[in-house]
Amino acid sequence: MSKVEGERPRILFVGDPHGAFDIAIDAVRQHAPEAIVLLGDVQPRTPLQLELAPILDRTDVWFIHGNHDTDSDQDFDNLFLSELAHRNLHGRVETIAGYRVAGLGGVFRQKIWDPATPPDLAPFRSRQDLLRHAQRGRAAAQDGWRGGYARKHHSSIFPDEIDSLSLQSADILVTHEAPAAHPRGFQVLDDLAIALGARLLVHGHHHKTVDYIRDGLMDASAPFAAYGVDMGSFLTWPRIADKEQETR
Ligand SMILES: [Fe+2]
Repeated sequence: MSKVEGERPRILFVGDPHGAFDIAIDAVRQHAPEAIVLLGDVQPRTPLQLELAPILDRTDVWFIHGNHDTDSDQDFDNLFLSELAHRNLHGRVETIAGYRVAGLGGVFRQKIWDPATPPDLAPFRSRQDLLRHAQRGRAAAQDGWRGGYARKHHSSIFPDEIDSLSLQSADILVTHEAPAAHPRGFQVLDDLAIALGARLLVHGHHHKTVDYIRDGLMDASAPFAAYGVDMGSFLTWPRIADKEQETR
């Protein structure tokens, strides 16, 4: 997975679309990758398969969800209930364009788990724990959504999701949240990348292009390379040097 100039990328990692898919569509037409991975905060205005219809026969579409993908029923339904819902990489590893890619969508929320504290001290270790709590009377009346727990916690990260993902192996980890070297990053994601054996971590969420080694945030001897991808831009993999698009 080294930097290769002039080569067709196998994967494009697309920064938070927030409902705008022209960047992804144009990039697929230009670079013809085998697959794209949307890095969360997808927020399709119509079901995702309709938004991406122009490229569905050109590339494989994968995604993780972000915190904003549970902002409204429309955000939720157009992603999680779309015909591409089975392409959500959250909590799993899939072979994509020859790479094993692990996904962790969503964000950390203190009501579920502050990852600076041990998982055993988390208010809720799992979605099942939260569901049981939400269905107990008063909590359901306050926070319930569609007979379950609050909509926003569909984009919260639970400790057991990281635990089970850690048992697998992968070449690449995609996350919505950032790793520890980011000012608002999390060590638990570094730990996850290392447990997976991932050599690359790519994230969205912060709307900034970051090349962690180039920018001096991580040492070249780090066990994995890390990149943040801005909204309105994408990262090619393998890298096509200096070709990343900044269109915003
Ligand atoms: Fe986000």
